[in-house]
Amino acid sequence: MEHVIGYDLARGLHIIAIIAWVSGLLMLPRFYAYITGSQAGGELEQAMLKAARSLRMIILTPSLVLAWAFGIFLFATYLVADWSRPFPDIVASVPHWFWGKLILVLGLSGYHGFLSAEGRKLASGQRRHSERYWRLMSEIPFLVAIAVVLLATLEP
Ligand code: HEM
Repeated sequence: MEHVIGYDLARGLHIIAIIAWVSGLLMLPRFYAYITGSQAGGELEQAMLKAARSLRMIILTPSLVLAWAFGIFLFATYLVADWSRPFPDIVASVPHWFWGKLILVLGLSGYHGFLSAEGRKLASGQRRHSERYWRLMSEIPFLVAIAVVLLATLEP
């Protein structure tokens, strides 16, 4: 039977969604750094709050959903090709590197949620962290992405 969406196309779309997701996660804390360094109620603060909100709504939320959707599709069609086996056999057949990747990806999703919550706090005028804190936080997704990509490609 012809498949509507093939494995390689799903892999490509998964990677495209991840490019958008990770680059959004790299940018958002930088916006927060600008907001934190700006004058409260000033023009820069308002412009950056708007940019951060748009980034979350237009790039980050859709790419998170698509990255997970294509990732789960790949998991279902490739890593676990036969769902008719007993559950413990299915779990045992999943390669070990994938569990490591899943933990990191859950961490990245949690980090995304944390950034969204912090964005709402910044919008309500609460500046709970320093500019330097947000600059350091913006490095985290890149470090996690390096580990995730190497796990997915080297399959150690
Ligand atoms: C959001 C949850 C995610 C799930 C459920 C998921 C799941 C998967 C699965 C099942 C594959 C197929 C594995 C294979 O072809 O050997 C895959 C491929 C891939 N994933 Fe993910 N993934 C997720 C997020 C990510 C993230 C955040 C990154 C990078 C930062 C990433 C990078 C990749 C890469 C580069 C491939 C292609 C590997 C290859 O073809 O050799 N994934 N993913």
